[in-house]
Amino acid sequence: MEQPAPDPARLRRSYEVGSLTESGLPADPLALFTGWFADAAASELLPEPNAMILATASDRAVPSARTVLLKGYGPPGFRFFTNLTSRKGQDLAANPRAALVFPWHPVHRQVIVSGPVVPLTREESAAYFGTRPYGSRLGAWASEHQSAVIDGREELEARYAELAERWPDHPGDGHAVPLPEFWGGFRVVPETIEFWQGRPDRLHDRLRYVRPVSPEGEPDVDAGWTVDRLSP
Ligand SMILES: Cc1cc2nc3c(=O)[nH]c(=O)nc-3n(C[C@H](O)[C@H](O)[C@H](O)COP(=O)(O)O)c2cc1C
Repeated sequence: MEQPAPDPARLRRSYEVGSLTESGLPADPLALFTGWFADAAASELLPEPNAMILATASDRAVPSARTVLLKGYGPPGFRFFTNLTSRKGQDLAANPRAALVFPWHPVHRQVIVSGPVVPLTREESAAYFGTRPYGSRLGAWASEHQSAVIDGREELEARYAELAERWPDHPGDGHAVPLPEFWGGFRVVPETIEFWQGRPDRLHDRLRYVRPVSPEGEPDVDAGWTVDRLSP
């Protein structure tokens, strides 16, 4: 804990491995995402390769960002779960758009997804909640007011103990912790997906897939993607 922190202005790294070119690029960005996600996981350099930064903005355009875990992805979007009354939950209720950043620095890559956000159905949220371990389910209940100021850690632990009494765990025989009504999932429907590959001399590769947006501002999920190269 006593180690001096490095001066961030002096930290510099050269990116020597990998490139991202237009030739052989898949027409579907999810295919490329799958390959990169697999690489990130296989590198074993990222303890949680499915950790992503979720950026939202409030009804007054105040931005905020935090880490959440990707819990599934596919043509309909990128899924995560959270407390619906949290700061991000309130932002998304008022302004259902978001950006996701996958900060895969150790493999010299970054992926940024942006688009509208759609709540998952209660059935989808219940299906995922059912896969969470007992402690995580109780934890979701104990943090009913996620993002609110609390008096101290004791408050949280007392609430957890109370809930454990209400819904005891019967190892081998399950338990009955239900899906809280204040908890659920969202999916970010990709409108753009940008792939960033670090290259030497800061001449990085940036390829951004974009799909057409309807007059109502929704991505046309049946339309094909176009790819632009962006200046690094
Ligand atoms: C590695 C990591 C993974 C996390 N995963 C989630 C998650 O999947 N869902 C969630 O609600 N919070 C998750 N959190 C906590 C959030 O970053 C954040 O503290 C919390 O959701 C409250 O955010 P908000 O006040 O901006 O709404 C995670 C934090 C870290 C560091």
